[in-house]
Amino acid sequence: MEYDVIVIGAGAAGLMTAIVAGQRGRRVLVLDHANKAGKKILMSGGGRCNFTNTNTTPANFLSRNPHFCKSALARYTPWHFIDLVEKHRIKYHEKSPGQLFCDESSKLIVRMLLDECAAAGVRVELNAPVTRIKAGEGGFGCDTPLGRFSAPSLVIATGGLSIPSLGASGFGYDVAKQFGHAVLPVRAGLVPLTLSGKHQERYDGLAGVALPIEARADGTSFRDALLFTHRGISGPAILQISSYWEPGVDLRLDLLPGIDAYEALRSGREERPAAEFRTVLSSLLPRRLAERLCEVWLPSKPMRQYRDAELKDIAAQLQDWPLVASGTEGYRTAEVTLGGVDTDEVSSATLMSKRQQGLYFVGEVLDVTGHLGGYNFQWAWASGHAAGQAV
Ligand code: FDA
Repeated sequence: MEYDVIVIGAGAAGLMTAIVAGQRGRRVLVLDHANKAGKKILMSGGGRCNFTNTNTTPANFLSRNPHFCKSALARYTPWHFIDLVEKHRIKYHEKSPGQLFCDESSKLIVRMLLDECAAAGVRVELNAPVTRIKAGEGGFGCDTPLGRFSAPSLVIATGGLSIPSLGASGFGYDVAKQFGHAVLPVRAGLVPLTLSGKHQERYDGLAGVALPIEARADGTSFRDALLFTHRGISGPAILQISSYWEPGVDLRLDLLPGIDAYEALRSGREERPAAEFRTVLSSLLPRRLAERLCEVWLPSKPMRQYRDAELKDIAAQLQDWPLVASGTEGYRTAEVTLGGVDTDEVSSATLMSKRQQGLYFVGEVLDVTGHLGGYNFQWAWASGHAAGQAV
Protein backbone atom coordinates (compact mmCIF):
# COMPACT_ATOMS: atom_id res chain seq x y z
CA MET A 1 0.00 0.00 0.00
CA GLU A 2 1.10 3.54 -0.74
CA TYR A 3 1.18 6.05 2.11
CA ASP A 4 0.97 9.84 2.12
CA VAL A 5 2.32 10.18 5.62
CA ILE A 6 4.56 8.09 7.88
CA VAL A 7 4.55 8.99 11.55
CA ILE A 8 7.36 7.57 13.68
CA GLY A 9 6.17 7.27 17.29
CA ALA A 10 2.78 6.04 18.50
CA GLY A 11 2.76 8.32 21.54
CA ALA A 12 0.55 11.28 22.31
CA ALA A 13 1.80 13.59 19.56
CA GLY A 14 2.22 10.92 16.89
CA LEU A 15 -1.27 9.46 17.33
CA MET A 16 -2.87 12.92 17.27
CA THR A 17 -0.99 13.79 14.07
CA ALA A 18 -2.12 10.52 12.51
CA ILE A 19 -5.78 11.02 13.48
CA VAL A 20 -5.98 14.54 12.07
CA ALA A 21 -4.13 13.61 8.87
CA GLY A 22 -6.26 10.48 8.46
CA GLN A 23 -9.46 12.48 8.92
CA ARG A 24 -8.27 14.68 6.04
CA GLY A 25 -8.12 11.63 3.82
CA ARG A 26 -4.37 11.14 4.00
CA ARG A 27 -3.16 7.54 3.98
CA VAL A 28 -1.22 7.31 7.24
CA LEU A 29 1.15 4.70 8.66
CA VAL A 30 2.36 4.96 12.27
CA LEU A 31 5.51 3.01 13.19
CA ASP A 32 6.67 2.44 16.76
CA HIS A 33 9.40 0.20 18.10
CA ALA A 34 7.51 -0.47 21.33
CA ASN A 35 5.09 -3.37 21.81
CA LYS A 36 2.28 -1.03 22.92
CA ALA A 37 1.05 2.36 21.76
CA GLY A 38 1.06 5.31 24.19
CA LYS A 39 3.12 3.74 26.96
CA LYS A 40 3.72 7.12 28.62
CA ILE A 41 0.03 7.93 28.47
CA LEU A 42 -0.65 4.64 30.24
CA MET A 43 1.85 5.47 33.01
CA SER A 44 0.88 9.12 33.32
CA GLY A 45 -0.88 10.79 36.18
CA GLY A 46 -0.44 7.73 38.38
CA GLY A 47 -2.43 5.66 35.84
CA ARG A 48 -5.17 8.28 35.48
CA CYS A 49 -3.52 10.52 32.84
CA ASN A 50 -3.54 14.23 33.57
CA PHE A 51 -4.49 14.75 29.92
CA THR A 52 -4.69 18.55 29.83
CA ASN A 53 -4.75 21.73 31.84
CA THR A 54 -7.52 24.25 31.19
CA ASN A 55 -5.21 27.08 32.27
CA THR A 56 -2.70 26.39 29.48
CA THR A 57 -0.89 29.47 28.18
CA PRO A 58 2.44 29.80 26.35
CA ALA A 59 3.92 30.90 29.71
CA ASN A 60 3.63 27.29 30.89
CA PHE A 61 6.36 26.17 28.49
CA LEU A 62 10.14 26.39 28.44
CA SER A 63 11.85 26.84 25.09
CA ARG A 64 14.69 28.88 23.72
CA ASN A 65 12.01 30.53 21.57
CA PRO A 66 9.07 31.13 23.92
CA HIS A 67 6.89 32.28 21.00
CA PHE A 68 7.18 29.04 19.05
CA CYS A 69 4.41 27.15 20.86
CA LYS A 70 1.83 29.95 20.55
CA SER A 71 0.37 29.21 17.13
CA ALA A 72 -0.31 25.50 17.70
CA LEU A 73 -1.61 26.03 21.24
CA ALA A 74 -4.01 28.73 20.05
CA ARG A 75 -5.45 26.52 17.32
CA TYR A 76 -5.95 23.41 19.45
CA THR A 77 -6.96 24.33 22.99
CA PRO A 78 -7.64 22.14 26.04
CA TRP A 79 -11.36 22.49 25.18
CA HIS A 80 -10.86 20.78 21.85
CA PHE A 81 -9.31 17.80 23.61
CA ILE A 82 -12.03 17.83 26.28
CA ASP A 83 -14.62 17.65 23.46
CA LEU A 84 -12.89 14.54 22.16
CA VAL A 85 -12.76 12.97 25.63
CA GLU A 86 -16.47 13.71 26.13
CA LYS A 87 -17.33 12.33 22.69
CA HIS A 88 -15.81 9.03 23.88
CA ARG A 89 -17.77 9.26 27.16
CA ILE A 90 -14.59 9.19 29.25
CA LYS A 91 -15.32 10.49 32.71
CA TYR A 92 -12.84 12.95 34.18
CA HIS A 93 -12.37 15.29 37.10
CA GLU A 94 -10.42 18.40 37.97
CA LYS A 95 -7.78 17.83 40.63
CA SER A 96 -5.75 20.95 41.28
CA PRO A 97 -7.16 23.99 39.47
CA GLY A 98 -7.14 23.30 35.73
CA GLN A 99 -5.61 19.80 35.94
CA LEU A 100 -7.92 17.22 34.35
CA PHE A 101 -7.55 13.50 35.09
CA CYS A 102 -9.50 10.41 34.00
CA ASP A 103 -11.82 9.10 36.71
CA GLU A 104 -10.96 5.53 35.76
CA SER A 105 -7.82 4.82 33.78
CA SER A 106 -5.32 6.27 31.32
CA LYS A 107 -6.04 3.19 29.22
CA LEU A 108 -9.23 4.93 28.10
CA ILE A 109 -7.22 7.77 26.54
CA VAL A 110 -5.04 5.33 24.59
CA ARG A 111 -8.15 3.38 23.56
CA MET A 112 -9.78 6.63 22.41
CA LEU A 113 -6.75 7.59 20.30
CA LEU A 114 -6.50 4.13 18.73
CA ASP A 115 -10.25 4.08 18.01
CA GLU A 116 -9.92 7.49 16.34
CA CYS A 117 -6.96 6.17 14.33
CA ALA A 118 -9.01 3.15 13.19
CA ALA A 119 -11.96 5.38 12.26
CA ALA A 120 -9.62 7.60 10.23
CA GLY A 121 -8.12 4.58 8.42
CA VAL A 122 -4.71 4.93 10.06
CA ARG A 123 -2.49 1.83 10.17
CA VAL A 124 -0.50 1.48 13.39
CA GLU A 125 2.44 -0.93 13.37
CA LEU A 126 4.05 -1.76 16.71
CA ASN A 127 7.32 -3.67 17.23
CA ALA A 128 8.51 -1.77 14.18
CA PRO A 129 11.81 0.00 14.81
CA VAL A 130 12.97 2.24 11.99
CA THR A 131 16.59 1.43 11.28
CA ARG A 132 17.28 3.93 8.50
CA ILE A 133 15.64 6.91 6.85
CA LYS A 134 16.52 7.98 3.34
CA ALA A 135 15.22 11.06 1.59
CA GLY A 136 14.79 10.76 -2.17
CA GLU A 137 12.76 12.03 -5.08
CA GLY A 138 9.41 10.65 -3.91
CA GLY A 139 9.87 11.58 -0.25
CA PHE A 140 11.20 9.44 2.58
CA GLY A 141 12.01 5.74 2.74
CA CYS A 142 11.94 4.12 6.19
CA ASP A 143 13.63 0.74 6.65
CA THR A 144 12.07 -1.52 9.27
CA PRO A 145 12.17 -5.28 9.93
CA LEU A 146 8.73 -5.35 8.24
CA GLY A 147 10.24 -3.93 5.07
CA ARG A 148 10.69 -0.47 3.57
CA PHE A 149 7.85 2.06 3.75
CA SER A 150 7.83 5.29 1.77
CA ALA A 151 5.81 8.49 1.87
CA PRO A 152 6.20 12.13 0.83
CA SER A 153 5.65 13.30 4.43
CA LEU A 154 7.52 12.02 7.47
CA VAL A 155 6.57 13.04 11.01
CA ILE A 156 9.05 12.54 13.83
CA ALA A 157 7.08 12.02 17.04
CA THR A 158 9.58 9.97 19.01
CA GLY A 159 9.54 12.08 22.19
CA GLY A 160 12.44 12.72 24.54
CA LEU A 161 14.84 10.62 26.59
CA SER A 162 12.92 10.28 29.83
CA ILE A 163 12.18 6.77 31.06
CA PRO A 164 14.05 4.53 28.61
CA SER A 165 12.09 1.52 29.90
CA LEU A 166 8.96 3.07 28.33
CA GLY A 167 10.54 3.15 24.87
CA ALA A 168 12.26 6.54 25.01
CA SER A 169 15.15 6.96 22.60
CA GLY A 170 17.30 9.66 21.07
CA PHE A 171 16.15 8.62 17.60
CA GLY A 172 14.36 11.89 16.86
CA TYR A 173 17.48 13.89 17.64
CA ASP A 174 19.52 11.67 15.30
CA VAL A 175 17.02 12.18 12.48
CA ALA A 176 17.07 15.93 13.10
CA LYS A 177 20.87 15.95 12.85
CA GLN A 178 20.75 13.75 9.75
CA PHE A 179 18.80 16.52 8.02
CA GLY A 180 21.02 19.32 9.29
CA HIS A 181 18.91 20.48 12.23
CA ALA A 182 20.50 21.84 15.38
CA VAL A 183 19.64 19.93 18.54
CA LEU A 184 19.87 22.00 21.71
CA PRO A 185 21.48 20.34 24.75
CA VAL A 186 19.05 18.01 26.50
CA ARG A 187 18.61 17.31 30.20
CA ALA A 188 16.06 15.75 32.52
CA GLY A 189 13.14 17.95 33.62
CA LEU A 190 10.27 17.52 36.10
CA VAL A 191 12.60 15.29 38.07
CA PRO A 192 13.47 14.77 41.76
CA LEU A 193 16.70 16.41 42.94
CA THR A 194 19.42 14.50 44.76
CA LEU A 195 21.49 15.58 47.75
CA SER A 196 24.94 14.25 48.55
CA GLY A 197 27.75 14.41 51.09
CA LYS A 198 27.17 16.66 54.09
CA HIS A 199 24.07 18.11 52.44
CA GLN A 200 22.47 14.70 52.39
CA GLU A 201 23.63 13.80 55.91
CA ARG A 202 22.02 16.93 57.32
CA TYR A 203 18.60 15.94 55.98
CA ASP A 204 19.10 12.21 56.54
CA GLY A 205 16.15 10.36 58.02
CA LEU A 206 13.55 12.86 56.84
CA ALA A 207 12.29 10.67 53.98
CA GLY A 208 8.49 10.86 53.89
CA VAL A 209 8.27 14.33 55.46
CA ALA A 210 6.18 16.66 53.26
CA LEU A 211 5.32 20.32 53.59
CA PRO A 212 4.07 23.23 51.48
CA ILE A 213 6.91 25.43 50.26
CA GLU A 214 7.80 27.95 47.61
CA ALA A 215 10.83 26.83 45.57
CA ARG A 216 12.85 29.50 43.77
CA ALA A 217 15.61 29.22 41.17
CA ASP A 218 16.76 31.18 38.19
CA GLY A 219 14.17 33.94 38.65
CA THR A 220 11.20 31.52 38.77
CA SER A 221 9.19 30.23 41.71
CA PHE A 222 6.59 27.53 42.36
CA ARG A 223 4.41 27.18 45.43
CA ASP A 224 3.40 23.58 46.08
CA ALA A 225 4.44 20.57 48.18
CA LEU A 226 8.00 19.37 48.87
CA LEU A 227 8.66 15.76 49.82
CA PHE A 228 11.90 14.50 51.34
CA THR A 229 12.99 11.22 49.74
CA HIS A 230 15.73 8.73 50.54
CA ARG A 231 17.93 10.31 47.87
CA GLY A 232 16.98 13.96 48.18
CA ILE A 233 13.87 16.01 47.54
CA SER A 234 10.81 15.64 45.34
CA GLY A 235 7.15 16.67 45.34
CA PRO A 236 5.43 18.93 42.80
CA ALA A 237 7.23 22.15 43.84
CA ILE A 238 10.62 20.46 43.36
CA LEU A 239 9.66 18.75 40.09
CA GLN A 240 8.53 22.13 38.74
CA ILE A 241 11.65 24.01 39.82
CA SER A 242 13.92 21.19 38.59
CA SER A 243 13.25 22.37 35.03
CA TYR A 244 14.86 25.71 35.96
CA TRP A 245 17.69 24.26 38.02
CA GLU A 246 21.11 23.00 37.00
CA PRO A 247 24.15 22.27 39.16
CA GLY A 248 25.48 25.65 40.26
CA VAL A 249 22.11 27.41 40.16
CA ASP A 250 21.08 28.81 43.56
CA LEU A 251 18.01 26.97 44.92
CA ARG A 252 16.06 28.66 47.71
CA LEU A 253 13.02 27.46 49.63
CA ASP A 254 10.45 29.48 51.50
CA LEU A 255 9.56 26.96 54.20
CA LEU A 256 6.60 29.07 55.37
CA PRO A 257 5.02 30.34 52.14
CA GLY A 258 2.24 32.85 52.56
CA ILE A 259 3.07 33.29 56.25
CA ASP A 260 4.83 36.23 57.89
CA ALA A 261 7.36 34.04 59.70
CA TYR A 262 8.59 36.87 61.93
CA GLU A 263 5.04 37.58 63.12
CA ALA A 264 4.43 33.88 63.69
CA LEU A 265 7.59 33.53 65.79
CA ARG A 266 6.88 36.75 67.71
CA SER A 267 3.40 35.61 68.65
CA GLY A 268 4.88 32.21 69.58
CA ARG A 269 7.18 34.05 72.00
CA GLU A 270 4.28 36.06 73.40
CA GLU A 271 2.01 33.10 73.90
CA ARG A 272 4.60 30.59 75.13
CA PRO A 273 7.60 32.48 76.53
CA ALA A 274 8.90 29.42 78.41
CA ALA A 275 8.61 27.06 75.44
CA GLU A 276 11.73 26.02 73.54
CA PHE A 277 12.13 27.48 70.05
CA ARG A 278 12.04 23.96 68.57
CA THR A 279 8.58 23.42 70.09
CA VAL A 280 7.23 26.65 68.60
CA LEU A 281 8.84 25.84 65.24
CA SER A 282 7.19 22.40 65.37
CA SER A 283 3.82 24.13 65.37
CA LEU A 284 4.73 25.81 62.07
CA LEU A 285 6.63 23.01 60.30
CA PRO A 286 6.50 19.18 60.38
CA ARG A 287 7.99 18.23 63.73
CA ARG A 288 10.81 16.06 62.36
CA LEU A 289 11.96 18.85 60.08
CA ALA A 290 11.70 21.52 62.79
CA GLU A 291 13.78 19.39 65.12
CA ARG A 292 16.39 18.74 62.46
CA LEU A 293 16.66 22.44 61.63
CA CYS A 294 17.29 23.12 65.31
CA GLU A 295 19.82 20.28 65.63
CA VAL A 296 21.88 21.45 62.68
CA TRP A 297 21.32 25.14 61.98
CA LEU A 298 19.11 27.12 64.31
CA PRO A 299 19.71 27.79 68.01
CA SER A 300 16.98 26.48 70.29
CA LYS A 301 16.45 28.04 73.69
CA PRO A 302 13.37 29.26 75.59
CA MET A 303 11.42 31.73 73.47
CA ARG A 304 11.70 34.57 76.00
CA GLN A 305 15.48 34.65 75.42
CA TYR A 306 15.12 35.69 71.76
CA ARG A 307 15.40 39.36 70.88
CA ASP A 308 13.38 40.76 68.00
CA ALA A 309 16.46 41.02 65.78
CA GLU A 310 17.27 37.34 66.32
CA LEU A 311 13.72 36.25 65.48
CA LYS A 312 13.79 38.47 62.42
CA ASP A 313 17.01 36.85 61.29
CA ILE A 314 15.67 33.32 61.81
CA ALA A 315 12.42 34.22 60.03
CA ALA A 316 14.39 35.55 57.08
CA GLN A 317 16.39 32.30 56.93
CA LEU A 318 13.25 30.15 57.05
CA GLN A 319 11.77 32.09 54.16
CA ASP A 320 14.90 31.95 52.02
CA TRP A 321 16.40 28.57 52.91
CA PRO A 322 19.35 27.59 50.68
CA LEU A 323 19.33 23.97 49.63
CA VAL A 324 22.37 22.58 47.87
CA ALA A 325 21.29 19.83 45.48
CA SER A 326 23.99 17.71 43.85
CA GLY A 327 22.04 16.70 40.76
CA THR A 328 18.82 15.11 39.56
CA GLU A 329 17.60 11.54 39.46
CA GLY A 330 18.05 11.76 35.69
CA TYR A 331 16.07 10.26 32.85
CA ARG A 332 15.24 7.15 34.88
CA THR A 333 12.49 9.07 36.70
CA ALA A 334 12.18 12.39 34.80
CA GLU A 335 8.78 13.15 33.31
CA VAL A 336 10.22 15.17 30.46
CA THR A 337 13.34 16.09 28.52
CA LEU A 338 14.33 19.74 28.31
CA GLY A 339 15.95 20.97 25.11
CA GLY A 340 15.79 19.03 21.85
CA VAL A 341 15.25 19.94 18.22
CA ASP A 342 15.86 23.68 17.86
CA THR A 343 12.57 25.37 16.96
CA ASP A 344 14.35 28.05 14.89
CA GLU A 345 14.41 25.75 11.89
CA VAL A 346 10.84 24.45 12.24
CA SER A 347 7.67 26.27 11.18
CA SER A 348 5.53 27.13 14.22
CA ALA A 349 2.39 27.01 12.02
CA THR A 350 2.88 23.62 10.34
CA LEU A 351 5.69 22.03 12.40
CA MET A 352 7.50 21.33 9.12
CA SER A 353 11.26 21.54 8.88
CA LYS A 354 12.59 24.66 7.16
CA ARG A 355 15.52 22.53 5.97
CA GLN A 356 13.82 19.49 4.51
CA GLN A 357 10.52 19.63 2.64
CA GLY A 358 8.01 17.11 4.03
CA LEU A 359 9.81 16.45 7.33
CA TYR A 360 7.87 17.35 10.51
CA PHE A 361 8.67 17.33 14.23
CA VAL A 362 5.94 17.19 16.89
CA GLY A 363 5.69 16.79 20.65
CA GLU A 364 8.47 16.46 23.14
CA VAL A 365 11.27 15.85 20.63
CA LEU A 366 11.14 19.61 20.02
CA ASP A 367 12.66 22.17 22.35
CA VAL A 368 9.28 22.84 24.00
CA THR A 369 8.77 21.58 27.56
CA GLY A 370 5.73 22.15 29.70
CA HIS A 371 5.35 22.65 33.41
CA LEU A 372 3.89 19.86 35.54
CA GLY A 373 0.11 19.57 35.36
CA GLY A 374 -1.11 18.34 31.96
CA TYR A 375 0.74 20.92 29.86
CA ASN A 376 3.05 18.41 28.18
CA PHE A 377 0.15 16.41 26.83
CA GLN A 378 -1.56 19.61 25.71
CA TRP A 379 1.59 20.45 23.72
CA ALA A 380 1.61 16.93 22.25
CA TRP A 381 -2.07 17.23 21.18
CA ALA A 382 -1.69 20.79 19.85
CA SER A 383 1.54 20.23 17.91
CA GLY A 384 0.21 16.92 16.56
CA HIS A 385 -2.98 18.63 15.48
CA ALA A 386 -1.08 21.41 13.69
CA ALA A 387 1.13 18.93 11.83
CA GLY A 388 -1.84 16.68 11.06
CA GLN A 389 -3.53 19.59 9.34
CA ALA A 390 -0.43 20.36 7.29
CA VAL A 391 0.92 17.00 6.11
P1 FDA B 1 6.00 9.99 23.72
O1 FDA B 1 7.19 9.71 24.55
O2 FDA B 1 4.65 9.95 24.33
O3 FDA B 1 5.97 9.03 22.47
C1 FDA B 1 7.11 8.74 21.72
C2 FDA B 1 6.87 7.42 21.03
O4 FDA B 1 7.94 7.19 20.13
C3 FDA B 1 6.85 6.24 21.98
O5 FDA B 1 5.72 5.44 21.72
C4 FDA B 1 8.14 5.48 21.68
O6 FDA B 1 8.03 4.09 21.84
C5 FDA B 1 8.36 5.87 20.22
N1 FDA B 1 9.76 5.79 19.80
C6 FDA B 1 10.85 6.30 20.42
N2 FDA B 1 11.94 6.01 19.72
C7 FDA B 1 11.54 5.30 18.63
C8 FDA B 1 12.22 4.71 17.54
N3 FDA B 1 13.53 4.78 17.43
N4 FDA B 1 11.49 4.05 16.60
C9 FDA B 1 10.14 3.96 16.71
N5 FDA B 1 9.44 4.49 17.72
C10 FDA B 1 10.15 5.16 18.68
N6 FDA B 1 2.45 14.86 30.82
C11 FDA B 1 1.24 15.40 31.10
O7 FDA B 1 0.85 16.37 30.45
N7 FDA B 1 0.45 14.86 32.09
C12 FDA B 1 0.84 13.77 32.82
O8 FDA B 1 0.09 13.27 33.66
C13 FDA B 1 2.13 13.23 32.56
N8 FDA B 1 2.61 12.19 33.30
C14 FDA B 1 3.80 11.60 32.96
C15 FDA B 1 4.24 10.49 33.70
C16 FDA B 1 5.44 9.88 33.35
C17 FDA B 1 5.92 8.71 34.15
C18 FDA B 1 6.20 10.39 32.26
C19 FDA B 1 7.49 9.73 31.87
C20 FDA B 1 5.77 11.49 31.57
C21 FDA B 1 4.58 12.11 31.91
N9 FDA B 1 4.12 13.24 31.20
C22 FDA B 1 2.90 13.78 31.51
C23 FDA B 1 4.86 13.77 30.05
C24 FDA B 1 4.23 13.22 28.76
O9 FDA B 1 4.07 11.81 28.88
C25 FDA B 1 5.12 13.51 27.55
O10 FDA B 1 5.47 14.86 27.51
C26 FDA B 1 4.37 13.13 26.28
O11 FDA B 1 4.06 11.76 26.30
C27 FDA B 1 5.19 13.46 25.03
O12 FDA B 1 4.49 12.98 23.91
P2 FDA B 1 5.28 12.55 22.59
O13 FDA B 1 4.25 11.92 21.72
O14 FDA B 1 6.07 13.68 22.09
O15 FDA B 1 6.31 11.45 23.07
